[in-house]
Amino acid sequence: EGLQRFVDKLPLMPTLKGYATSSYGKYLPANLTIGMYMKPWKFHRDLPPSPVFAFGVSPEDATVPGPSIVAMSGVETYILWENHLPDKHIFVIDKTIDVAKPSRGVPTVVHLHGAVTEPNSDGSALAWYTRDFHEKGEKWSKAVYIYHNVMTTGSMWYHDHALGYTRLNLLAGLIGAYRIINPEVESRFGLPHYKFDQELVIMDRSFNNNGHIYINSTGDNPNLHPEWKPEYFGRVIIVNGKAWPYMKVQRRKYRFRIINASNARFFRLALNDGTGFTQIVSDSFYLASPIYLTSALLAPSETMDVVIDFSKIRNQSVILSNDAPYPFPNGDMPGVADSNVMKFVVARRNVYDSACIPTQFEPVRKLSEEEAVTTRNIVMYEYDSWTGQPTKLLLNFANFNDPVTEFPKQGTTELWHIVNITPDNHPFHIHLAAFQVLRQQKLKNVGELSKCAVKHKGIEACNITSYSDGDPVGPPSNEAGWKNVFKMQPSYVTSILVLFSTIHSKPFPFDPTGDPGYVYHCHILGHEDNSMIRPFVLVS
Ligand code: C2O
Ligand code: CU
Repeated sequence: EGLQRFVDKLPLMPTLKGYATSSYGKYLPANLTIGMYMKPWKFHRDLPPSPVFAFGVSPEDATVPGPSIVAMSGVETYILWENHLPDKHIFVIDKTIDVAKPSRGVPTVVHLHGAVTEPNSDGSALAWYTRDFHEKGEKWSKAVYIYHNVMTTGSMWYHDHALGYTRLNLLAGLIGAYRIINPEVESRFGLPHYKFDQELVIMDRSFNNNGHIYINSTGDNPNLHPEWKPEYFGRVIIVNGKAWPYMKVQRRKYRFRIINASNARFFRLALNDGTGFTQIVSDSFYLASPIYLTSALLAPSETMDVVIDFSKIRNQSVILSNDAPYPFPNGDMPGVADSNVMKFVVARRNVYDSACIPTQFEPVRKLSEEEAVTTRNIVMYEYDSWTGQPTKLLLNFANFNDPVTEFPKQGTTELWHIVNITPDNHPFHIHLAAFQVLRQQKLKNVGELSKCAVKHKGIEACNITSYSDGDPVGPPSNEAGWKNVFKMQPSYVTSILVLFSTIHSKPFPFDPTGDPGYVYHCHILGHEDNSMIRPFVLVS
């Protein structure tokens, strides 16, 4: 971290069109082939290149993060995700957790985070495959994935999801941005577009002196798990593949689609001169109306779209900074080596700016508790060794491969109470379904509650209401609409309404029922890999 700040220019990732246009101007489905390649990648001017795993249409074009895919609302994109990775991983694999076990090669499978996808294209952790589909996981079913792009608009991202490998494959670079556009809707909004609308994929990494990505590969409980650690934190902040980059901007409005692609780091982002910004999208969904903020907290895997108006910046530059502690929220390590994320260098003169921020987007239909047909409790629990180090994290005390216990009916709404009796904040993510946060209720006597939960292997017998502490609170206003990830605070019960249809309550344009189903999990990748992930299967 002696690296000089702001010497590399922010890369803008190559874009790939996920649709075609007919001679009549009609939009048509398109096929893409995207490979995963090992290649050298320079993260900073003064660092030698590191081996990475990168997505790209060819090894030369492969980047970290991968190409940004632009899909058209309502038009299918077909993607053949090819694995060209070598026999050996660049990091050490832990064989003691629940992990894919090919005889050789790097297992991968791609999930489009935030998308409404059929089960066979959703990137099931058990649908992994190695180079040239040589070896495959038990739930592998097809090579070409279909994305229906059913959402009106949306900022999403794609990443690896292979069983027990996710934390290492993402650390190696298997991430990329994806957006669904809708010219009709968006021209109505009048937001900044084209080159004034860019992705910022933010993550943290540490490096060896030879420039290689560094991970401490000795577990906290090496007798039990020789390599696995619950969290990875890097000392250097990487945006679009470069350490602490800078971007030259005009004195006007820009839209940034910010993705927290870190394994475990939360970011509380702000501009260091105190200027605010306007959040317009949370996860993949437009808010009902824009919200002006001076800082915003992003957990791993959360995304937000913001508009920054650089005509409001008085100086020639402004720094995007982060002051979230890690581990979040109780860690005592502030920021990183410092609080820098990246720098914007602002042109001197104002320019004509036709972009605007509308006062409203589309109203968000509020789900109501009454419409929930099923109520479920999900307990987040952490097993510790005698040294106090986590050895495993579980949802409802079950492993990933234990029998499926959640069978939501398609088209319905369910009420889920997420009971977090661990000391960490867990970003809880559900595939396919979007949800709304109803309330967050603080808990007291969590030690006692946790004994009860362990004893009964669940929370049902524990009279959770007797542990309530104070009045419940709603979600923050910038997270009060649709979400696909939510930060589950420690010692809280967070109640969410989960909708198992599209947010416009239209049926899915595919059969969402049956094998291999979907998953819900914590998006701290060390937790997800061991074993804070559970399957669910939709029924009709
Ligand atoms: Cu972004 Cu199942 O994950
Ligand atoms: Cu977690």
